[in-house]
Amino acid sequence: MDNKKVYIETYGCQMNVVDSERIVTTLKSSGYEMTDESSQAEIVLLNTCSVRERAEQKVFNRLGELRHDKPQIFGVMGCVAQLEKEKLFRRAPFLNLVVGTHAIDRLPSLIDLAVEGRQKLLDVNDEDEGGSLDVAERARSSRWTAFVPIIEGCNKFCTYCIVPYSRGREKSRSAATIIKEIDDLRQNGYQEVQLIGQNVNSYRPKTETGLERFSGDTPFSRLLRAVAATKIPRVKFTTSFPRDFHPDIVAALDENNNLCNWIHLPVQSGSDKILKAMRRGYSVSDYLSRIEAISRAKRQYALTTDIIIGFPGESQRDFEDTMRLVRECRFHSIYIFKYSMRPNTPAAKLYDDVSKSEKTARFNLLEDVQREIQNQIFSEYIGRDVSVLVEGFSARSERDLTGHTTCNKVVNFPGDASLLGKTMSVTVTSAKSHSLYGQLS
Ligand code: 5AD
Ligand code: SF4
Repeated sequence: MDNKKVYIETYGCQMNVVDSERIVTTLKSSGYEMTDESSQAEIVLLNTCSVRERAEQKVFNRLGELRHDKPQIFGVMGCVAQLEKEKLFRRAPFLNLVVGTHAIDRLPSLIDLAVEGRQKLLDVNDEDEGGSLDVAERARSSRWTAFVPIIEGCNKFCTYCIVPYSRGREKSRSAATIIKEIDDLRQNGYQEVQLIGQNVNSYRPKTETGLERFSGDTPFSRLLRAVAATKIPRVKFTTSFPRDFHPDIVAALDENNNLCNWIHLPVQSGSDKILKAMRRGYSVSDYLSRIEAISRAKRQYALTTDIIIGFPGESQRDFEDTMRLVRECRFHSIYIFKYSMRPNTPAAKLYDDVSKSEKTARFNLLEDVQREIQNQIFSEYIGRDVSVLVEGFSARSERDLTGHTTCNKVVNFPGDASLLGKTMSVTVTSAKSHSLYGQLS
């Protein structure tokens, strides 16, 4: 086969990053070549996200732009493909391939068929046919940090969320496979793994193979102990779900220093009324008691969260409750999202009554409150030594390196390429609200 060039653009969550890595691996082994230039590629693929309207809109804008490169084969994969199905061909008649999230394993052979001249190939079954999450080896986006999926899909059906429809039901990978993957990564010089899934706390493999030697009150806390035992230097995980965040998870973290001191625990709202309408399954006081348990732990954990503002029915008072919660929790960082109606979700039936301008106003107010808290938290790091895994050069300056602390803060400091992939002690000399700056200690 002549080496056809493939260009892939990836949007959305880490699961999409992993899916793109899988595709790259398989395509390379079938003789395709990757390129970073869409105009050089015969095959162009967009791996898409539909979690919010803006993410979806971006996909359609990019489709319009990329068609000017006139690729021989143009495909859409990921969540928008899964949800829109054949409608995508109507909206973008120049597409050749639409491949959903459950058909990722078949994408390479579909590309082969398209190369042979087959037109408008569609593979978007909603049934998960057990397509494997496992490829023996995977091209990785980084040489030192790797995403390791442990569970895919979600059974929670929060009323605003499209993920249970675009990614399907929860499906856990076997612990033995996860541990083998992490062992291999460690032997190949990887310094950090991030265990990923829409809800890692509900990790529930079919069998306990690989976990027999490890104790713990939940399969996830047993998995954490098993992963810690691989001795990979750093383990992070995301995303946690408050109701499933069992105290034994904190116990496992406390016992193992290579399990990092960062917990991402999305609260979504500080109002019980809104949490109920979101069908999150916990109250503000349940959330606070989780946080309290974390703050009583032996080690100190950096807590981060997601918040949706402007959910249907969110009154000024509900919003103030969210502001109060944010002040109380002192998160190290927050992702704030304006509510975005997703078609066919239960919340789509509710009247989206918070106006666009009110959403923006609430967004800005919450951001201001958080900025002040974050400025304080980050400035408390000045003068402290932090351990930084050096991951690359800073986007700002070629003389500065950049990396993350164990508590997932970005740190920039002057240094050269010889430090890439190493973990260095850095003395923090200044702080902004989203990153730290320092010098080698
Ligand atoms: N509108 C706004 N934000 C959303 N999120 C998920 N669905 C929506 C939506 N329809 C946010 C949640 C979630 C994060 C990944 O995206 O806060 O935790
Ligand atoms: Fe969506 Fe809720 Fe599942 Fe998170 S837990 S992916 S917000 S349905």
